[in-house]
Amino acid sequence: MEPLSPDERSGPASCVRLGAVSQPVAIRAAGRADHAVVLRFHRDLYIRHRDELARPDVIPLLAYRDLDGTLRDDVEGLLSGRDTRVLLAEREGHAVGYITGHVEVDPRRVLTRKGVVEDWFVARDERGQGTGRLLLDTLLEGFRRDGCQVAESGTWAFNDGARKAHAKAGFTEIEVKFRKRL
Ligand SMILES: CC(C)(COP(=O)(O)OP(=O)(O)OC[C@H]1O[C@@H](n2cnc3c(N)ncnc32)[C@H](O)[C@@H]1OP(=O)(O)O)[C@@H](O)C(=O)NCCC(=O)NCCS
Repeated sequence: MEPLSPDERSGPASCVRLGAVSQPVAIRAAGRADHAVVLRFHRDLYIRHRDELARPDVIPLLAYRDLDGTLRDDVEGLLSGRDTRVLLAEREGHAVGYITGHVEVDPRRVLTRKGVVEDWFVARDERGQGTGRLLLDTLLEGFRRDGCQVAESGTWAFNDGARKAHAKAGFTEIEVKFRKRL
């Protein structure tokens, strides 16, 4: 994992207002030592959040044989990959959200170099204060610096909040995925 350059860090200058008190949210690149916190967010996103949103008939279409093991492998791959990025948002040293991504190159495209957003999550009581956007903007800025001409992200069709948050961030919805049990 590439360390963040100084101007890629969003430090104390990035403040959000919490009631009358202004508290800083800092963004930093996660390392292998952050495995446990990244795995906790990964589980919050792919188990708790999914189960809150998905209709019961959709869950089997998304199921893994060993979801825990798959999430652990995912995090291992994210934190050790050469082309993956994992950013953590921290308030007073306490992790409140994360975002992950990687870069893909396809010379056949007009926009050859694409930054792909994979996972994006902010703890429930921290939402709506700009932390998600700060994570996303920091990841996208890193993609831009790496020469990406386009960014891509995805979410479950039933995740209305994420669809709205992506629209607010300037993304255009371009695909819908269908799945059917045979
Ligand atoms: C999506 C998520 C990361 C956004 O984080 P956040 O800290 O709440 O986002 P922000 O406060 O930075 O909001 C950024 C913008 O998106 C909008 N937005 C965020 N969540 C929204 C929602 N659920 N519905 C409508 N708009 C939303 C905000 O109003 C804000 O708009 P503005 O720029 O006009 O002020 C967070 O809601 C989350 O963790 N959701 C659960 C997990 C999830 O669905 N992740 C996305 C998977 S792809």
